[in-house]
Amino acid sequence: MNVIEAIHCRHSYRGKYKNIPVPKDDLIKIMQAGLDAPSGCNKQTTSLIAVDDPHILAKLRRVIEPPIGDTAPAAICVLTQRINAYRDKCFAVQDYSAAIQNMLLAIVELGYQSCWYEGHITDDDKICDKIAQVLNVPDNYELVCYLPVGIAECEAAQPKKKPFGERAWFNSFPQE
Ligand SMILES: Cc1cc2nc3c(=O)[nH]c(=O)nc-3n(C[C@H](O)[C@H](O)[C@H](O)COP(=O)(O)O)c2cc1C
Repeated sequence: MNVIEAIHCRHSYRGKYKNIPVPKDDLIKIMQAGLDAPSGCNKQTTSLIAVDDPHILAKLRRVIEPPIGDTAPAAICVLTQRINAYRDKCFAVQDYSAAIQNMLLAIVELGYQSCWYEGHITDDDKICDKIAQVLNVPDNYELVCYLPVGIAECEAAQPKKKPFGERAWFNSFPQE
């Protein structure tokens, strides 16, 4: 699968996963894809924790309520350090977004599925902080995203996207 194919095949998967472990080598490839992403002024503000130990996954499931990706045999947690790239410019959100997208594409290429879970875990109930506590994340890192990883049991839904011509143009914003 080339990159363009992976981009077109990727959809958020929220279904059940097969009970088949993800080999460590694949998790490393996925994480490396995340770490290879660009970052503002190369500050590399994104860090990652992969979880494949069933005992730790079980601990995470206890704090992720309502459950997300709870049948996945592995997950990658995305951490950020909100430090400035220069003056008062912090690109941490852009940095971790680029890393997440790289990982989502690598996940698809390797035959797995995932979903970018950020809203769910950073909401008012701050599940992110509970996950961070389970994983011994120090206070100067913020856990911002949870990516389940595993082989899907069913097809991912394909959400409707607006037509190309409503969002992308050549040479000028379209005139009335
Ligand atoms: C910043 C961000 C946060 C997201 N948070 C969640 C989330 O908390 N729960 C969820 O089910 N999907 C979440 N998603 C996935 C989006 O809902 C999904 O990308 C969108 O519906 C388009 O579907 P697609 O990924 O299949 O193209 C998030 C995506 C992004 C980019």
